[in-house]
Amino acid sequence: MAITFDAKHVRLVKTGLAYFGGAVLLYGLFRLLQGIFAIFIQPGKSLRKFGPKGSWALVTGASDGIGKEYAYQLAANDFNIILISRTASKLEEIGKDLESKFSVQTEYLPIDFAANRDEDYKKIAACVDGKDIAILVNNVGKSHDIPTPFLITPEQEMKDIITINCTATLRVTQIVAPGMVTRKRGLILTMGSFAGLTPTSLLATYSGSKAFLSSWSAALAAELAPSGVHVDLVTSYLVASAMSKIRRHSMTIPSPKNFVKAALGKIGVYVGNTAGVSTPYWSHGVMHWALENLAGLGSANVIKVNKSMHEDIRKRALRKKEREAKKQ
Ligand SMILES: NC(=O)c1ccc[n+]([C@@H]2O[C@H](COP(=O)([O-])OP(=O)(O)OC[C@H]3O[C@@H](n4cnc5c(N)ncnc54)[C@H](OP(=O)(O)O)[C@@H]3O)[C@@H](O)[C@H]2O)c1
Repeated sequence: MAITFDAKHVRLVKTGLAYFGGAVLLYGLFRLLQGIFAIFIQPGKSLRKFGPKGSWALVTGASDGIGKEYAYQLAANDFNIILISRTASKLEEIGKDLESKFSVQTEYLPIDFAANRDEDYKKIAACVDGKDIAILVNNVGKSHDIPTPFLITPEQEMKDIITINCTATLRVTQIVAPGMVTRKRGLILTMGSFAGLTPTSLLATYSGSKAFLSSWSAALAAELAPSGVHVDLVTSYLVASAMSKIRRHSMTIPSPKNFVKAALGKIGVYVGNTAGVSTPYWSHGVMHWALENLAGLGSANVIKVNKSMHEDIRKRALRKKEREAKKQ
C-alpha cells in the first residue's frame, strides 16, 4: 500500500521539526549560560573550609613556576607550608621568605621524585606525621624536553614522565590523604593539563600521563567525598614558566601568579562535563568549553590541529638547538 502525505501530515512534520529545533536551541543556550556562569561568575569553595589557620599545606614541585606560587598564595592564606622539590637551596630560601612575609611555619624536603626511592617517601611520611595537613597540591610534573614522535622518545624521558607525574602523585597522596579522612576535611589538588584533555601527538607520554591523572583524580574525588575530602584535577593550557619555556604572559598564557589565584578561587567549579575536573583560568575555561561543546575534545580534527601545532614547535625547537650547537 502506498503511503500518501496530505497537507495535515506535512504540517505535523513541520511542527515536530520546529519543536525539535527549539529544544536543540534551548539546550545550546542552557550549555552556553552554564559555561558563562562557571567561568565568570560561580565562586569556588573557601580555602578555610579545608583547614583552620595554622594547619598545613604540602606542595610538590614547590621551588619554581606554578608550585612556588601555590606555596606563596597558600601561605598568604595562613597555611603553614611543606615544600618539596629537588633543590634544597631554593626550598630553603623560599621557606625563609614565606616565614618572614606571612609569619607561617615552613619545612622543606629535597627529593628527586624521578628516583622513586622508598626512603624519600618514608621522609615525607615522617614529616607529615602529627601535622594537620589540610591541603595537598600534587603539582610536580615533567614534560618532554621538546615535542618528539613517540617512537624516538628516549626511554629515560618516558620513565621519568611516568614516575614523576603518576607514581609520585599516587604515593604522596596515599601518605597524606588518610589523615584528611580521619579529620573529615581536606583538599587535594592535582595539576592536569590540556594535553590530558585532548590527545596530544608528539607529547604522547606526557599527554597519557595527564589523562591518567584526570581519571584517577575524578575517581578518587568520588571515593573521598563521603569523608569530607575534596579532590580536584586542575586543568591548564599554557602558563608562562620554565616548563613551557614561555616567559611573557598574555591573555591565553597567564603568569603562574594569576593562574594560581584563579585556581584557588575556583575550587569545585567545573566548566566541562567531568565532575572533579576544573579549568580555573578564564581563557582556558573558554577554550575547554568550546572544545567540549563545539569541537569535540577527542575529535579527529582537534587531534590533527593539535598535532600540526606540535610539529611546528618541534621544528622551531630543533632549529634553536642547531643554532645553539653552532655557537659552542
Ligand atoms: N607551564 C605550563 O604551561 C603547564 C601547562 C599545563 C600543566 N602544567 C603542569 O603544572 C605543573 C607545574 O609546572 P610548571 O610549569 O610550574 O613547571 P616548572 O616551572 O618547570 O617547575 C617544576 C617544579 O617541579 C620541581 N621538579 C622538577 N622535577 C622534579 C623531580 N624530579 N622531583 C622533585 N621536584 C621536581 C622543580 O624544582 P627542582 O628543579 O628544584 O626540582 C620545580 O619546582 C606540572 O605538573 C605541569 O605538568 C604546566
